[in-house]
Amino acid sequence: MHETRGLHGNFGAYARDIYLGGPEGKPPVPADFAELERLAMAAMSPDAAGYVGAGAGAEDTTRANREAFDRRRLIPRMMRDVASRDLSTTVLGTAMPAPLLLAPIGAQSIVDPAGETASAHAAAAVGVPIIASSVAHFSLERIAAAGGPGAPRWFQLYWPTDTELAASFVARAEAAGYTAIVLTVDTFVHGWKPRDLERAWLPFLNGIGVANYFEDPVFRAGLARSPEEDPAAATDRFFAVQGNPSVTWESLAELREMTSLPVLVKGILHPDDAREAAARGVDGIIVSNHGGRQVDGAIASLDALEAIAAALYDEPLPLLLDSGVRGGADVLKALALGADAVCLGRPYVWGLCLGGEGGVEAVLRMVLAELDLTMALCGFDAIDGVGPEALVRGASAERLR
Ligand code: FNR
Repeated sequence: MHETRGLHGNFGAYARDIYLGGPEGKPPVPADFAELERLAMAAMSPDAAGYVGAGAGAEDTTRANREAFDRRRLIPRMMRDVASRDLSTTVLGTAMPAPLLLAPIGAQSIVDPAGETASAHAAAAVGVPIIASSVAHFSLERIAAAGGPGAPRWFQLYWPTDTELAASFVARAEAAGYTAIVLTVDTFVHGWKPRDLERAWLPFLNGIGVANYFEDPVFRAGLARSPEEDPAAATDRFFAVQGNPSVTWESLAELREMTSLPVLVKGILHPDDAREAAARGVDGIIVSNHGGRQVDGAIASLDALEAIAAALYDEPLPLLLDSGVRGGADVLKALALGADAVCLGRPYVWGLCLGGEGGVEAVLRMVLAELDLTMALCGFDAIDGVGPEALVRGASAERLR
């Protein structure tokens, strides 16, 4: 068992706790995540629901992410002594109680005023690492403080048009105890999201999701007047610097010079991009289509994972996946297709909306409980043993004969 703070193993016992607690002691969020989504989306302001729910275009890719999970079926295995199970793992030096992290999600205060500080505190209580977003409502320092000194945390970077600003973010993240940099490479421009366009609303236009920038000395030095004196000018500058469509693989060398922390790239979908990343010395890859928020019609994350895992078969590079993960069984499917860990996205924001910090913690405990129980029922007592034989594509057992 790896040394981590938070909960240790036996995650499935959460089910027993819920039964013993009876109807009065129920967790603050439903265990049925379709119901969780429905209730949370109904509880959010229309602007927040639009922003959290939005996918690009007709939202085909957001749906495809789910369909890709649905297309794969786990094959339960029997009589294998799974009485004692260890879900713990270490990815790029970060020990975690299970192969699960919180995906970076910006502007979380639109669903709960405590936003990312509540999520970070909940994640720390369970021991799950967070990936703090560049466009969080709270600064990376505030989020680190909310998690506490021993809480595992990575920082997500959007590569700005100002390299000095990137260097400043990275230095601040290092100083605040973040232990990896996740460079999101799929959002150098924002995707076409009708739900947001329809209401002409974005958090960043409303002073939400800009703290890392407005509090940064390099960002501030580029302004004639401070963001407190002239928020409109600071917001204009935010939009001018935040995304950088000129970035190329060459730019990775600059990031390398800025930090000795491991660097992951998030948003890879093509095996050739995965090979390129590996050749450029990236330390890890997050296969993701940003929850279908960037390119409508893009390949589902889980479908991309299979090809990328095959392309990187000989590389000792950690592979992570997000987009469409809605429970512990999904985590197991991703592990079976070659992921070393999985990032949970929207479901924890639904939990935050309905139950604040306690809602995030309950969502995490539910995902971990389902993962633990599903692993046991599929015959696995450790995540190392999980491989493609755990799965069959489609409902047919043809391949098993
Ligand atoms: C995101 N995502 C994201 N990614 C990132 O690298 N930086 C960010 O600031 C954000 N912000 C963000 C906001 C909202 C509201 C959503 C829904 C998503 C993408 C996120 O990290 C992850 O890739 C997706 O959430 C995965 O898809 P599902 O599982 O949530 O559907």
